[in-house]
Amino acid sequence: MKIGSVFEDQIFEKRISITPDIAKKYINLGFEVQISENYGDHLGFVSSDFTDQGVSVVSDTKTLIDSSDILIQMGLLDDDKLKFLKSDQIYIGVLNPHNNKEKLESYINKKINFFSLDLLPRITRAQSMDILSSQANLAGYKAVIESFSIFEKAIPMMMTAAGTIPAAKVLVVGAGVAGLQAIATAKRMGAIVYATDVRMASKEQVESLGGKFLTVEGSENLETEGGYAKEASEDFKKKQEELLEETLKNIDIVVCTALIPGKKAPLIIKENMIKGMKNGSVIYDLAATQGGNSAFTEIDKIILKNGVKILGEKNILNKLPSSSSNLYAKNVFNFVSNLYDKDNKKIKINLEDEIIGKTIIK
Ligand code: NAI
Repeated sequence: MKIGSVFEDQIFEKRISITPDIAKKYINLGFEVQISENYGDHLGFVSSDFTDQGVSVVSDTKTLIDSSDILIQMGLLDDDKLKFLKSDQIYIGVLNPHNNKEKLESYINKKINFFSLDLLPRITRAQSMDILSSQANLAGYKAVIESFSIFEKAIPMMMTAAGTIPAAKVLVVGAGVAGLQAIATAKRMGAIVYATDVRMASKEQVESLGGKFLTVEGSENLETEGGYAKEASEDFKKKQEELLEETLKNIDIVVCTALIPGKKAPLIIKENMIKGMKNGSVIYDLAATQGGNSAFTEIDKIILKNGVKILGEKNILNKLPSSSSNLYAKNVFNFVSNLYDKDNKKIKINLEDEIIGKTIIK
């Protein structure tokens, strides 16, 4: 069986789905692997890094797609490439099926099997395939680095002969995977870190990383059975607003990561709160592409409001393509291994397996 991967549009996507190490693992499992020309050049992987492992380089995109039993990508390719897919082929990626519903439907009708890894269930067996966690973890780290780099003061407390520089105060809004990594990163760089979340379970996790948890007093725990956040009530939102408005007066950097699955991101940092913030403060909005947690967020721009810099990016992982590709490629390899029936040396789409049944798009 052949696994293929096509070079993606570099303006938006610098991550790759198969690294040389992972190609070797597929080949050891019994697959053939084929990629486009210059597939990993931009990440420092030259063709020989792949071909030395036994990978074929195919220059013609149609041939590459047409002859692959499984196509592994980051996102959904453009129609000029998707049109080469044929029935029974498998396409694996982060396909955002809610936004790409219509586009996907026409190909599903051609009996192509699409697996979208953003639909993976958060169960123990799927942890090694969990692209949401591996990518969010890196995004949380990078959001801190990006916001610290445009903050015009030092982060750690410094006691010098010329006087003391106080430690920067960071607030992380949303303490899921990205938020917890943001807290850990900001702490490691010497900041004083505060965090808030609607899930009470996150309090202990924030504190174990040395962060101070801001509890919205008198509020219920807004956690679903699956461990995600529920949409907050008007009463909760009002109390959270009061708490944050006061807190933000003394915060230097805010990293927003709050999301509710399947919904627009909640607007948490409002205009009046930004007005009360100190000149020179920074807000990094990781929820920017889902509508933003902060007022004024605009994708790929730094907005200046009352001396506060507000920014968010379309794809922050394009600034960490090497690390994120390494983790993504491993996640997908673990997913494909689960699809592969090693005894009969073929792919088995067993819909009773929760991991397979929940990720296939029907
Ligand atoms: P996410 O990306 O959907 O949301 C990020 C965070 O924002 C969450 O912690 C959420 O509670 C918070 N949030 C939502 N609305 C908010 C508001 N109005 N104010 C403040 N915070 C708000 O979540 P993520 O990072 O994907 O993780 C969610 C859960 O999944 C966590 O409980 C995590 O422990 C769990 N998880 C489980 C895994 C497993 O394999 N068992 C793997 C990874 C995560």
